[in-house]
Order: sequence, then structure tokens, then C-alpha cells
Amino acid sequence: MEKSRKKFTDTIDKAVAAANRMQRDELLFNYKGILYPVTFCSPEVFRAMESFEARSDDIILAGYPKSGTNWVGQILSDLVAIFEKKMKNKESSVNEEELEEFPYFEIGDTGKYERMNKLPSPRLMVTHLLPENLPTSVFKNKAKILLLIRNPKDLATSFYHFSNVMSPLPSYETWDDFFTAFMTKKMPWGCYFEYLSAWNKYADDENVMVLTYEELKENPAQGVKNIADFFGICLNEKELQSVVERSSFQAMKKNSQKTHGAFGNVLFRKGVVSDWKNLFSEDQNEKMDKAFEEHIGGTKLGTKLKYEVYCKS
Ligand code: A3P
Repeated sequence: MEKSRKKFTDTIDKAVAAANRMQRDELLFNYKGILYPVTFCSPEVFRAMESFEARSDDIILAGYPKSGTNWVGQILSDLVAIFEKKMKNKESSVNEEELEEFPYFEIGDTGKYERMNKLPSPRLMVTHLLPENLPTSVFKNKAKILLLIRNPKDLATSFYHFSNVMSPLPSYETWDDFFTAFMTKKMPWGCYFEYLSAWNKYADDENVMVLTYEELKENPAQGVKNIADFFGICLNEKELQSVVERSSFQAMKKNSQKTHGAFGNVLFRKGVVSDWKNLFSEDQNEKMDKAFEEHIGGTKLGTKLKYEVYCKS
């Protein structure tokens, strides 16, 4: 059975409608040094988040915006559905709509975390937050974290196009303006290089698995298998194939009206590797190469990203 997505589409539709009535400089607010969109996040909800009690069987997908979180979120939700079916621990009378929470951890209302404390395991959540801004119980109770990363040039390219069609985010007249903002820490959810550098400290933890957008794109079946193994979910060949097929870019785009509503039209843009080559100037390439080297070069996440392969012409 498909999980209910009503809360998801309603939340996005409301944020878009509210942002349409706002000025560009009203769209973001600063909380502990990081910018967030006012139509999705609030200081009150950040404060309420501390009451969340993580569990060791929680499934957390951590990824900076535009790293492919909706893609991997779809894979994880299919894996959880397979797991639940096998465990038969779900009553058929459970009202999916009532239990639904907006999947992004930091987005919701102040009552969200108390409600989540009552949800059955395994709970699946997605987050764009820096590790130090997650509730302390996430690391203390060893929740399992799948860390999704994407090469910074494609990520910036995707973020640029998204910012220009998603009213809750400030738009940019030119790519050059966006690039400057991206490189000078003006992005919602913070600077991507700082994000990588902060998460790199957790990359060797046994409860953290690192996955790149590019490796999943290159070999989706292996990627899905690795994810399932990490979360201890057994899959037969048929189940594996069905998760892979349902999470292909074409399948997700086709199904997006149902899963993402109007937001689907802007989210599923190209879904490819190397689109950055259509935007970056020589000077911008040099600036990003330097920033990458300074922040993350030679580290575990830096090496995992295969910068030489994916970010050099
Ligand atoms: P592009 O803008 O480069 O096309 P997020 O979900 O974190 O916002 O990331 C969105 C990016 O992931 C977009 O990248 C989107 O097209 C891509 N994406 C979404 N679903 C995908 C899929 N099934 N396969 C590959 N890429 C996908």
C-alpha cells in the first residue's frame, strides 16, 4: 500500500502560497548562524525538536538540499514497506493519513516530536540539518544514519534551478549571482562545504553509511542492496528489482503528481550527472576546486565524492 502523502503535499502547497505573498528579503531567517526558509522552519519547532527521543532502529536520511533526498527517501520508504509486510507488525486498520508526518525532520509543528515519540518502529525521517543541530539523542541512542552526498558542482546547479522555481527560496537573476551566494554562505541550511566538513567527523561511525548520488546513479541495484544491508532489511531478487524500478528517475517523475503534487513538476528536473558543465565558467571552476580542496580535500567524504572524476572537465 502506498503511504499517505497528503501532509507532504499540503505542507508544500501552503509554504508556496505563503511565500508568494512575501518579499524576497523576508524569505529566510537566521537560527544559530544558519539560514532557513520561514515558510518551512521556525525557532519554536527547532526548540521543540530537543524533546525527540531517537531509537537505535530509527532510519535517518541526512543530505544537504538537492543531493537527491527525495530519490533516496523513496527507496527507503519502499524498503520499510517491505520490512513491515514481512514483520506483519502493521494492523490493516492503521490510518496511514493520521500517522503521517512531514518526512523532513526539521519541518512541521511544535507537537510533531511528541507525536513521533508514539510512532511504531521503524521510523523514517529525512533531514538537511548539520549533525550538531540534530537532537542529541540521535547520536546518543545510535540511530542509523544514511548520509547522502552529491558532487558540489551538480548540487549547486540543481539548487540554482530549484531556487528560481520554488517561491519559498530566494531566486536569482543570474547564475553568477547564485554562484556568489552559494560560495559565501548565503544558502538555506548553510554552506555545503561546511556541511560536508561537519558530517565528515561522523563518516567512520558504525551507525553511519555514506552514499553518493553518483554511485547510486551508476549502479542503482547495488546501491539499493547496500542500503538494505545497512538497515538489516532482507530483499529477494524480485523485491530488489521492484525498488530499483520504482525509484528510477522516469518512474518517479511519472508518479510525481501522486507523490509530490504540483511540487513534482519542479523537483524532478534532469536527474543526471555533469549538468554543471552547462553553467560553470573557468573562473567559477577554479573557485570551487579551491574551496573543495580547502574544506574537504583528502578527507573520507572528499575522497568518496571522486571530485577528479565528477567535477573536472
Ligand atoms: P537535478 O535538479 O539535478 O535534476 P532533492 O530531492 O534532495 O531536492 O534533490 C533533487 C535532485 O535529485 C534533482 O536533481 C532531481 O532531479 C534529482 N532526482 C530526484 N529523483 C531522482 C531519481 N529517481 N534519480 C536521479 N535523480 C533524481
